[in-house]
Amino acid sequence: MTKTERTLVLVKPDAMQRGLAGEILRRIEQRGLRLVGLKLLRIDEALARRHYAEHEGKPFFPGLISYITSAPVVAAVFEGPEAVRAVRATVGATNPIEAAPGSIRADFGLEKGRNLVHASDSPESGEREVALFFRPDELVSWERDVDRWITE
Ligand code: RTP
Ligand code: MG
Repeated sequence: MTKTERTLVLVKPDAMQRGLAGEILRRIEQRGLRLVGLKLLRIDEALARRHYAEHEGKPFFPGLISYITSAPVVAAVFEGPEAVRAVRATVGATNPIEAAPGSIRADFGLEKGRNLVHASDSPESGEREVALFFRPDELVSWERDVDRWITE
């Protein structure tokens, strides 16, 4: 048995503008990961800076903050075995040009600065980011009848 993890997914403003929220969530849900949190929100500058704190000072930081705050996002929490690695693989590499064929960024994107979706990069980031976007009572623990057909 692999460890159950939680990961934060953001459907970024470009994907929202392009009507891709359903498509992006569908691909992750379809893998078997379980949705345990979901909301639509407009990220303000303070939340953007906290979420992307690791990138403060880098040349792309101002553009990144303005991008992520430019339209609403869908924030989702997915749970499952190795959820962090599973979602990162489904999302694809940061630069869509280098992303694996069939990944979301490869299928819908062309540039790093418009790469459609965020996904936590480690289980620790997952915990930190989920707590930034969701109160504990906004997360729903539940079991699905199909889970035994997805995990051993
Ligand atoms: P994310 O955090 O959004 O899931 O993306 P990531 O882990 O694949 O990439 P990361 O290194 O964390 O970078 C965060 C976001 O900053 C933008 N970026 N632009 N112009 C650039 O060189 C550059 N590098 C990064 C991208 O939107 C990237 O997703
Ligand atoms: Mg990242």
